[in-house]
Amino acid sequence: MAEEKKVTKMEDIVSFCKRRGFIFPTSEIYGGLANSYSYGPYGTELKNNIKKMWWKKFVQKREDIIGMDGPILLNTKLWEASGHISGFNDASVDCKNCNKRFRADHIVKELTGEDMEGELEKMTKTLQAGLKCPECGKSDWTEVRNMSQMFQTEMNSVDGPIYLRPETAGAIFSDYKNVIDSMRVKIPFGIAQIGKAFRNEIVARNFIFRIREFEQMEIEYFIEPETKWEPLFEKWLDEQEEFAISIGAKKEDLRRYEHPKAKLSHYSKKTIDTEYNFPFGFGELFGLAHRGDFDLTQHSKFSGQKLDYFDATTNKRYTPHVLEPTVGLDRLILTAICAGYTEEKLEDGERIVMKFPKAVAPIKVAVFPLMKNKPELVAKAKEIFQNLSEDFMCEFDDNGNVGKRYRRQDEIGTPYCVTVDFDSLEDGTVTVRDRDTMQQERIKIDELGKYFGEKLK
Ligand code: GAP
Repeated sequence: MAEEKKVTKMEDIVSFCKRRGFIFPTSEIYGGLANSYSYGPYGTELKNNIKKMWWKKFVQKREDIIGMDGPILLNTKLWEASGHISGFNDASVDCKNCNKRFRADHIVKELTGEDMEGELEKMTKTLQAGLKCPECGKSDWTEVRNMSQMFQTEMNSVDGPIYLRPETAGAIFSDYKNVIDSMRVKIPFGIAQIGKAFRNEIVARNFIFRIREFEQMEIEYFIEPETKWEPLFEKWLDEQEEFAISIGAKKEDLRRYEHPKAKLSHYSKKTIDTEYNFPFGFGELFGLAHRGDFDLTQHSKFSGQKLDYFDATTNKRYTPHVLEPTVGLDRLILTAICAGYTEEKLEDGERIVMKFPKAVAPIKVAVFPLMKNKPELVAKAKEIFQNLSEDFMCEFDDNGNVGKRYRRQDEIGTPYCVTVDFDSLEDGTVTVRDRDTMQQERIKIDELGKYFGEKLK
């Protein structure tokens, strides 16, 4: 029996991701760009799989949710209406001795245990009362001040700044009217979107957990204002948890954090985050907020357009309220990797195995010829690879001995390996090896498609 050890250190995850082609520091040959990453070949597959799973669960399989895909650059008025230009800030503070910059609320919480988010003066006083910089040990702080998280750019040099979207939600609200006018939607209904968002984070950290360019998967779910929203809210929380579990998170590594009433945005009735227990501690994975009619009302006011809903059965016209389930794709990827990464002691050595759920695994089937210098084995293995890759992401590998190839596939979480040997040429069967049990069985080549179709459904 294999003995399992779960990873506890972020460094193991970061170096594994680089070594095995999941995630690299970006533009590294030029010295990199602070906390920016590229997804490598396996990371890209992983990302696409998680996106597909999310889209399937929340769009494809639901009658009440439709998708859209808005641009990153949008009319600046949209961000004035949403309050992002004036109010999308984080509190920052610098140590004057070592010039290190911190998120003020994070450093105060770390040093005192107290949550002072939003209270700039109180944070300044607390820090300046003698709290020591964790980098240099001195106490010499600037005032705490707000820094905008908006990334600014321009279309041309005369029309003033425009912004990279800080959340995908914006285009959903501004295209609400187009959706209502072009689709036969009935309340309650949702609009889903996946895409990049950009935030000038004061401190990007913890690998891909907090980055400046990231991807969000958001739904704006429109409901009738008088409707009993609490059961719907609970259902969304359960669905978020279900999704986390489907990508490999264990239930005991998930917890809910309800934002205290006093800290809620003025328009929010309730916000609950679902957090995951990362190697650096619990951190927000999903958010769920009741945003009332704030967004549609604001966009209606700023655009001068009616953004309401007419219910033909009750003859009532109203501005819908909104429940917003949201999640960061990069954080889901980090969750899947942390949850899957396992070091196992075997009777004959050790292995790292990524215990990804099959739908998440970047490569579904690896195909090997037993020996790379036997053309007839290679030709048969290539033929099998071609056939299987019509339906599944496959990898062909003839490098090193089969034991080493198994280890390599275990490390990237490939659920099945197929080996073509001399018997295959005689009796038309191959060895199929299972990643988790390491058991092998002989399967007819003609039946591989059906076999994997069932196993990988
Ligand atoms: N439209 C609502 C909204 O944007 P948010 O809580 O600010 O809410 C949604 O962001 C999700 O986006 C978060 O739950 C988190 O998973 C992800 N996210 C936020 N900032 C991020 C960052 N800097 N890096 C990676 N993911 C981030």
